[in-house]
Amino acid sequence: MPPPISPGNSPDSSAISSIVKNEPWYYSPLTITIIGASGDLAKKKTYPSLLSLYLTGLLPPHFRVFGYARSPSSDEAFRAKIRPFLVKSSKSASPSLVDSFLASCFYLSGPSYGDEPAFSRLHAEHLAFESSAVTAVPARHAGENPHRAQLSRPSVNRLWYFAVPSTVFALAASRIRELCMRRPGAAEGGWTRIIVEKPFGRDSGSCEALTEALAGSFSVSRTQRFPPPARKKSEGAGSPSRTSAL
Ligand SMILES: NC(=O)c1ccc[n+]([C@@H]2O[C@H](COP(=O)([O-])OP(=O)(O)OC[C@H]3O[C@@H](n4cnc5c(N)ncnc54)[C@H](OP(=O)(O)O)[C@@H]3O)[C@@H](O)[C@H]2O)c1
Repeated sequence: MPPPISPGNSPDSSAISSIVKNEPWYYSPLTITIIGASGDLAKKKTYPSLLSLYLTGLLPPHFRVFGYARSPSSDEAFRAKIRPFLVKSSKSASPSLVDSFLASCFYLSGPSYGDEPAFSRLHAEHLAFESSAVTAVPARHAGENPHRAQLSRPSVNRLWYFAVPSTVFALAASRIRELCMRRPGAAEGGWTRIIVEKPFGRDSGSCEALTEALAGSFSVSRTQRFPPPARKKSEGAGSPSRTSAL
């Protein structure tokens, strides 16, 4: 587990960090899973945006990022692959901070985005992390936590980010629904949400078809499409719209 990070230099990030530390979810373990982690979007934008959140103290003390794709790779090889993109995206981050973030990043591969054993393995990894995190909240964070009662029986939260072509969305969402949402021992109130990347279909017909396919697994309130239309021009690694979507 990497050491806790202080909020970043900008007054905005410090103010946001104070607000976030009053949120109950901040004290719960969070898993973030990038579906399609081997791709261009993941290395150039998604992981750099997560690093940006980490550096500004906006990720919970207990988080883990799992990358999933078909391409085989070890954790170490995957970290080595994305490291240059992280360094490039955050010129103010020291190598040790980048490595500290990368220590919480893991990679799993499977033969497809609908493979049952692979998604069961992801679920097992989530459970193992969550149960270790629940018993290991550092005293420093326990002291800061305005929701202390939660520490003895915390909820766990899971975020899935779809960095794959939209043809894969419905299948991956249904596997997550079937295999990755049983959380024995967790308190009520934890959430599972998915973020899906544009393009969300080619036209209104294909957009509706995708919406319907996803709705079979996740309600609209658990689904965030990226980017929100009004913010389309600010797209980029670490941009406000991308980091707030995460
Ligand atoms: N790149 C960007 O900057 C950007 C920006 C905005 C939106 N997007 C959208 O975000 C999504 C991902 O973008 P990307 O550039 O990362 O795409 P990508 O590199 O082509 O695909 C991401 C990963 O998905 C898997 N994949 C590719 N084609 C597939 C297929 N036909 N069936 C199943 N898996 C497939 C590959 O991983 P494995 O072979 O290892 O499984 C690949 O590494 C796309 O929908 C794209 O339009 C991208």
